[in-house]
Amino acid sequence: MEVIILPSSKEIGVLAADAIEELVRRKPGAVLGLATGSSPLPIYDELARRHDEDGLSFTQAHGFALDEYVGLPLGHHESYREVIRREFTNRMDIAAANVHGPDGTAADILAACDAYEEAIKAAGGVDLQILGVGTNGHIGFNEPGSSLASRTRIKTLQEQTRTDNARFFDSLEDVPHHVVTQGLGTIMDARHVVLVASGAGKAQAVRDFIEGPVTASCPASVLQFHPHATILVDEAAAAELTMAAQYRQTYSSKPAWQGL
Ligand code: GLP
Repeated sequence: MEVIILPSSKEIGVLAADAIEELVRRKPGAVLGLATGSSPLPIYDELARRHDEDGLSFTQAHGFALDEYVGLPLGHHESYREVIRREFTNRMDIAAANVHGPDGTAADILAACDAYEEAIKAAGGVDLQILGVGTNGHIGFNEPGSSLASRTRIKTLQEQTRTDNARFFDSLEDVPHHVVTQGLGTIMDARHVVLVASGAGKAQAVRDFIEGPVTASCPASVLQFHPHATILVDEAAAAELTMAAQYRQTYSSKPAWQGL
């Protein structure tokens, strides 16, 4: 795990965009793992800027979203398909048909989950997975207690997550109880994982998953087993890290040619 502490979410967005740009220029047909929530927004802003100003192109790229609410009507403003469309797809030149998300409206959710796993495999697997982290350590919608080997499936949200996400809805009652999410095993199959976190509200979760034990009680801690996981945090989210000085020193002496 490489931990990089940056001044703010702006620098996080720039560094994550650097890794994505390097990937897409080297492999135009790259498969990107797309995340929602507020944490990845500076990445999408920076990619959109590079698309507009520097000609960064995604015409051959593919995207797979991490998760989706179950029960929101098709086209609902807060369904993750819509969020990804608004924040990513519509702002780049990626083909809309190349951007996929788990289907939270399927009559047969189990079959839709299996089909989603197959679609990721058929596209060649995820090259770079963007992740945020929940205040309870969830990634995607893999709540504490999720199997570390889980695949795409339906999950029930914890009240803490519903409360955290209520800000996107008119009221807490409108936040669905069920979701479909890539599993921890699915996420672990991505070749490179870039997790971004900012703000004091994430400090405890960040400390737990980076420096605590690997445990289903803190799902993001499974990333300690990932051969290529990059963690980008701002100062506030890094506040509880006991080894912050080592992370800073390691990063400041990293040769530029290594990239992320
Ligand atoms: C949601 C998403 C996660 C996201 C998390 C944190 O629950 N399913 O993918 O990482 O929220 O969101 P935020 O970045 O807004 O704090």
